[in-house]
Amino acid sequence: MTHTVKIENRDNSLYEVDAKRSLLESLREQGVDLPYGCKYGGCITCAAKLTSGKVDQRRQVALNNRQLNEGYIILCVARPKTDISLKIGVESHDKLYRNPFLDPLKPHELKADIATSKGEN
Ligand code: FES
Repeated sequence: MTHTVKIENRDNSLYEVDAKRSLLESLREQGVDLPYGCKYGGCITCAAKLTSGKVDQRRQVALNNRQLNEGYIILCVARPKTDISLKIGVESHDKLYRNPFLDPLKPHELKADIATSKGEN
């Protein structure tokens, strides 16, 4: 099964990708220049912003809840579940990192905001 990926910040270019393979793999194979590092979902280098559609990225461990809520996905593990639209590259990273001096954490955010931290004290 394939889905269509639209890359909004690359002239809305369209790619057909396999639902069973990572977006990083499928898009790079078709000539899209994407940054990456570890390729197992741990380093955040390949993050992109999902602007529509759904992906399966259960294997990612790089993003915290805030980043997930901002729509970030980890291309080296994410597989498309529907047709999707993305913004890629460093231009898409505007909300990925947060400057603690300009935008300090609120008291309830001071504990590590890790997506998988449930059950720890
Ligand atoms: S390349 Fe490291 S998280 Fe994707």
